[in-house]
Amino acid sequence: MKPFRLTSLFISLALVLLILPVCAQVRQPNTEARIDALLREMTLAEKLGQLQQLDGESNGNFRPEHLDLIRKGLLGATLNVRGARRTNQLQRVAMEESRLKIPVLFGFDAIHGYRTIFPIPLAEASSWDPSLAERSASIAAKETYAAGVRWTFAPMVDIARDPRWGRISEGSGEDPFLGAAFARARVRGFQGNDYSATGKILACAKHWVAYGAAEAGRDYNTTDLSEQTLRTIYFPPFKAAVDAGVGTLMSAFNDLNGVPSSANPFTLTKVLRGEWKFDGFVVSDYTAVTELINHGVAANEPDAARAALSAGVDMEMVGRLFNRHGPQLLKEGKLTQETVDQAVRRILRIKFRLGLFEHPYVDEANEAGSLLTKENRAAAREIAGRSMVLLKNDHETLPLSKGLRSIAVIGPLADNQRAPLGWWSGDGRDENTVTPLAGIRAKVSSQTKISYAKGCEIEGGTTEGFAAAIAAAREAEVTIVFVGEAKEMVGEAASRSSLDLPGHQMDLVKAIQATGKPTVVVLVNGRPLTIGWIAENVPAILEAWMGGTESGNAIADILFGDVNPGAKLPVTFPRAVGQVPIYYNHMNTGRPPEANNRYTSKYLDTPWTPLFPFGYGLSYTQFKLSNLRLSAQNIRPDGKVTVSVEIENTGRRTGDEVVQLYIRDIASSVTRPVKELKGFQRITLRPGERQHLKFTLSSEQLGFYNREMKFVVEPGDFKFFVGTSSEDGLESGFTVGER
Ligand code: NOJ
Repeated sequence: MKPFRLTSLFISLALVLLILPVCAQVRQPNTEARIDALLREMTLAEKLGQLQQLDGESNGNFRPEHLDLIRKGLLGATLNVRGARRTNQLQRVAMEESRLKIPVLFGFDAIHGYRTIFPIPLAEASSWDPSLAERSASIAAKETYAAGVRWTFAPMVDIARDPRWGRISEGSGEDPFLGAAFARARVRGFQGNDYSATGKILACAKHWVAYGAAEAGRDYNTTDLSEQTLRTIYFPPFKAAVDAGVGTLMSAFNDLNGVPSSANPFTLTKVLRGEWKFDGFVVSDYTAVTELINHGVAANEPDAARAALSAGVDMEMVGRLFNRHGPQLLKEGKLTQETVDQAVRRILRIKFRLGLFEHPYVDEANEAGSLLTKENRAAAREIAGRSMVLLKNDHETLPLSKGLRSIAVIGPLADNQRAPLGWWSGDGRDENTVTPLAGIRAKVSSQTKISYAKGCEIEGGTTEGFAAAIAAAREAEVTIVFVGEAKEMVGEAASRSSLDLPGHQMDLVKAIQATGKPTVVVLVNGRPLTIGWIAENVPAILEAWMGGTESGNAIADILFGDVNPGAKLPVTFPRAVGQVPIYYNHMNTGRPPEANNRYTSKYLDTPWTPLFPFGYGLSYTQFKLSNLRLSAQNIRPDGKVTVSVEIENTGRRTGDEVVQLYIRDIASSVTRPVKELKGFQRITLRPGERQHLKFTLSSEQLGFYNREMKFVVEPGDFKFFVGTSSEDGLESGFTVGER
């Protein structure tokens, strides 16, 4: 025994010297050498242990088993374990009691905030201001870091064209260009330039890939998409995240063209590592490896482990198949040692880059004071205000005067502290949410009488509360009705086959509108809803989304004119669920819809147009676009053209406009969308102020994947549109190649 102990002591010492350099440089050139040294030293069990991620308890605590596994060097990462004291406690076991002293990586879903909850990502995307998402992600990173967690499973960058899918709320909507801009911004916000820095955390772009295309909008469902569509629509936000340096990706639950995403060598290896040169690691989604059996591409557990690992999944979340069956698979030659070592290498590489070996612990004294600070709340309020979309405002119903004598605040979302946090609300607490009712009370003077009536439940219940709500509306000068969805109706496993307001809410709106009193509807929801009746009959509608901790204050800021809304929809609102999927960047068809021609592409019972188009949103002021100019009428395929336009605030208030540039390739070797977003700028103008805006179009924007999947710019005519939504604006054109 003795000589063995001495040898292992010697080896440990050598390793410590090797892996604990004095200076905490993250991207040390010797990282790979340090990994080599560890790989030489690790047993197979320790290697497989690095590939394992296990869940903690729902309150954020770890499980007793974790201590034991970590002590033995058999657990690479956890999820949901949080709190500086708890994570330090576990980490201490890894750093002091395990043989090789490899730190544990703590992961958590801080999707739109940790304790201070920001608007749901779909709402933030409505701001069309990626710098806001970068800011909220960087605040979320600081809070998450303070709580001992160094890895977030965000950003969710799935394109979603189907509002029935509950997870549409977690992403940036339907457009790849907007989605890529937000993916980039969020990765920068979480990780900064160097995620080993204090207050920065590792990001995870998910769900790779096409999870948002779940058939019929039903979560976890199959997807079947052409490579063309994958490369054009679903890949770009992931590519943007990779280019921004994202350290990890999560492989999705869905089957993709017959090969589940968590065992798909084309996406996990050919595209991600081969074409994009991604050198971080891929974690499977929760039990996604085991689910390969249900998908029917694996007959049993060992088969599933082999399929996932050899396709390019590195870490297994919750399932334990890599660990359970790895040794046997290696013995039987069904898995190579090289595959296992490569996965371990990728995980260790990220742990080194995170600086975890040098700084495994967080400062416990720093945690409480870092969460939900005044500054973080103020940022959440500002970001929420910039994310809310004014959908309708006839007769300048809004903004309301702060001097109103009486206001009726109605509806099941008016004083609800839970729904505004949205799904994946981190470690957010309902009791910290400012509801609309509280926000309105804080906004108006003490002279204003505010009466509140819930009217009905969000879902189910009865109409018994209508009478009190109607009475309150009758007595008030103005009524504001808050309707929408419950927290549990959005996010994971929250698909809906109807996009109507649930329960009796639409009837409540109708009853209030029938009082004849000026009525404003505020929507608190996580997906586009079919609100045709409201759009037709109620004079003012604000899409407030699920706006986070400060949503009530932000709503009041807008309703009373302290903030002028300037957000735009990142997703199309259908008139009827039967129109889904409906998105602005569709192909033209051979028979585009014509009003007086039956044999064109449309419906018998519903217009083909959306209720509110992509890119749409109003302001309390007005803007005018003019002087559309081009730097050249004709460019080479590798050339550039600059589009310039003038915008003027022609109204009476300072406000924001989002100027949007769309292109259309008129004829090419494959069909191209009728419009594609290729540029946008959100600007603020005072009344009467004008500004010149410039957009540059180059091969990156003009190109597409041809039949051979080559990215090309083909000669021919292009149209472009500069507008304030996907459906209005100025139009012109240019030619690529010889005329
Ligand atoms: C399952 C979800 O699909 C994924 O988005 C999430 O990050 C993991 N669970 C971990 O909570």
